[in-house]
Amino acid sequence: MIVAGREAGGVFMVESPSPYGSTKVKFMAIRNRITELLGVEFPIVQAPMGWIARSPLASAVSNAGGLGIIETSSGELDAIREEIKAMRRLTDKPFGVNIAQAFVRDPDIVGFVVDQGVKFVTTSAGDPNRYCSALKAAGLTVFHVVPSLHAALRAVEAGVDGLVVEGGEGGGFKNPREVATMVLLPLVCSKVGVPVVAAGGIVDGRTMAAAFALGAEGVQMGTRMVSSAESPVHENWKNAILAAKETDTVFLNRFGPGPALRALRTEKTTAFEREPPEMIMGEFRDALALYFGGDMEASIALSGQVAGRIDAVKPVAQVIAETIAEFEETVAEMATRYGAPGLHRRG
Ligand SMILES: Cc1cc2nc3c(=O)[nH]c(=O)nc-3n(C[C@H](O)[C@H](O)[C@H](O)COP(=O)(O)O)c2cc1C
Repeated sequence: MIVAGREAGGVFMVESPSPYGSTKVKFMAIRNRITELLGVEFPIVQAPMGWIARSPLASAVSNAGGLGIIETSSGELDAIREEIKAMRRLTDKPFGVNIAQAFVRDPDIVGFVVDQGVKFVTTSAGDPNRYCSALKAAGLTVFHVVPSLHAALRAVEAGVDGLVVEGGEGGGFKNPREVATMVLLPLVCSKVGVPVVAAGGIVDGRTMAAAFALGAEGVQMGTRMVSSAESPVHENWKNAILAAKETDTVFLNRFGPGPALRALRTEKTTAFEREPPEMIMGEFRDALALYFGGDMEASIALSGQVAGRIDAVKPVAQVIAETIAEFEETVAEMATRYGAPGLHRRG
């Protein structure tokens, strides 16, 4: 709810429920192309993640003013249909769905997504031309996830509404030639006109401000959300993220076959770093024993380098509130320290 109409540089003051109690706190709400397209209060997107990005986590994000996303990479479309129904019970705020193209088994995934009545889709892990026009013809807003400038230009040519630009420090399946967010994001933003959501390494307000300085208008968080209170994963995975140093992820399978990926360092993944298994995807056979059973050696715990910056499990509303508050402080501090004299000089 907007409580003061102060608009300066796309900024409003808004009142939101406090994550710390019943008192409402005032935040800066950001008005830009991402908030407009997504219909959200804050341009913070929760990453799609197989089995994890379901209604308990996604509704918490949407209710906190960000954008929750429901996964389809698990391939369990009957379960996903129920999750989307649950979303409608749990929140009246916008949410989206992800189509991770490399994992699609249903040839009518577009029909499935359209039938669910969602308005926003991210497509990832594949050719942006494959689903973009059909999704757009059905009236959906489509963002494509890209790991390189080449992929970004292709996606723009395919007609996407926006991009998720994902740096190689992020968790999950990756381009084998990974590029860090610090390099990739300003490069892509300088060459495309569509709005960009930054992913990979985003964990708080400072990293969000950095992403905005590099040209993004929104951010996506994966590892931070895996380790949130509402994330359904076993506490052993969350605790492993809390314990991780910034050097405790591994980049696996750069030379294939199958996808490259970034995951937490365990005994198994450290061994794979030296000698990858013949088929990396086979290692996800027992993923649920890790995800929900807590056996960290049963499979591979996809996670990003920001694991090294996460030291507490927090409710999603607190993550989002703290991120926005710190973003505001950072932007204001930067303007005070570096902005004003320049403005005076120009004035
Ligand atoms: C456990 C896990 C599962 C993921 N699964 C998907 C997925 O199904 N589809 C997708 O587009 N990205 C997936 N990703 C990548 C995230 O969407 C996100 O871009 C990435 O985690 C951002 O980097 P961060 O971990 O530094 O926040 C996954 C990431 C993690 C950590």
